[in-house]
Amino acid sequence: MARDEMGSRHGQPAVERLFVPVRVGSLALANRLAVAPMTRVSADQHGRATRRMADYYRSFAEGGFGVIVTEGIYTDTAFSQGYLFQPGLTDASQADAWRAVADGVHQAGGRIIAQLMHAGALSQGNPHRSHTAGPSAIRPKGAQMTVYRGSGAYPVPVAMTTDEIAAAVEGFARTALLAKAAGFDGVEVHGANGYLLDQFLTEGVNLRQDSYGGDGDGRIRLTVEVVRAVRSAVGGEFVVGVRISQGKVNDFVHKWSGGEDDAAAILGTLGRLPLDYLHTTEFEAWRPAFGAAGASLAALAKRYAQLPVLANGSLHDRKRAVELLVNGEADFISLGRGALTHADWPTRLRAASPLAEFDPALLSPIADLANAERWRAAA
Ligand SMILES: Cc1cc2nc3c(=O)[nH]c(=O)nc-3n(C[C@H](O)[C@H](O)[C@H](O)COP(=O)(O)O)c2cc1C
Repeated sequence: MARDEMGSRHGQPAVERLFVPVRVGSLALANRLAVAPMTRVSADQHGRATRRMADYYRSFAEGGFGVIVTEGIYTDTAFSQGYLFQPGLTDASQADAWRAVADGVHQAGGRIIAQLMHAGALSQGNPHRSHTAGPSAIRPKGAQMTVYRGSGAYPVPVAMTTDEIAAAVEGFARTALLAKAAGFDGVEVHGANGYLLDQFLTEGVNLRQDSYGGDGDGRIRLTVEVVRAVRSAVGGEFVVGVRISQGKVNDFVHKWSGGEDDAAAILGTLGRLPLDYLHTTEFEAWRPAFGAAGASLAALAKRYAQLPVLANGSLHDRKRAVELLVNGEADFISLGRGALTHADWPTRLRAASPLAEFDPALLSPIADLANAERWRAAA
């Protein structure tokens, strides 16, 4: 039977590549398909995961995803919470609630990684504080997200003191330890998409004169400290990853100004940390990271960090997803909108069942699970 260079038959992508098991650190994954982290603002008012959330996460494991990265979970009761009804992992009652989620995923044969998120200056709903905090007192670009109950411009944050920075680092570490105790299979430090760690990394957003600002080494210092603190809290065996991006929820088109030199520096620094994987995200994962030609961000991560790479960005295009694996640009891939459309996307793909287009109404007017259930009932 004729096969093309991707090993596919009849011109169909060799989707079986997505179902080859893979090891990420100490974690054995049944396949290469991950659910991308997605904030769903469906926790109770105390930031505890709910039964509905447990059912939601379990459905992805039942649907054949090898691993699920949770929505961004806030890490302290100071400045980290980004959204009202966002879940946290800061105390025993929140940890107990997450244990039910992790147990459900495990019972269905899946794996689950907790994404640890500090919203920083992009916080638009935090009952713990009346103002926001970030690297410098610069109003973030863009507008608050209405699907998460925000409106209008972001407030100008207060520049964090070194004590507040130390407390934020401590929050990540404590939350990672709680995640391990709650039965998660790993943690992912959210260093992407414009949230606190990315704010520190970003020129023009971080104007600090101290050791957390200035050149690239200064601006990535907070991420480095967080990863080291998380690793020392959880020990050597527990999976720890970092998510990294150029684009931001409040600035989709942002690019690292130094192009590939910046990529080499940032990804090289991450590669020297005690990490098990990097999660790269771009709008379309296969596009050149800079300009019209050249390597994708995922490929650059593999080149400069030499770590397993989880690639994200429009990879419900299964031909592109397979290509990234075949080309060695990524080791596994994550789906956001594809997973929202079909919690059983992997099972459907394998059975060659129809795969629908993502419908933004699923997340509108509010991006929570109740809205999605109404959308599904009406479909
Ligand atoms: C509703 C929704 C919520 C999201 N929340 C998060 C989040 O909490 N953390 C994060 O790193 N990315 C978040 N993202 C970004 C996704 O992880 C992913 O990068 C994005 O959807 C692009 O992937 P896709 O093309 O497969 O949808 C969110 C995306 C969506 C659609």
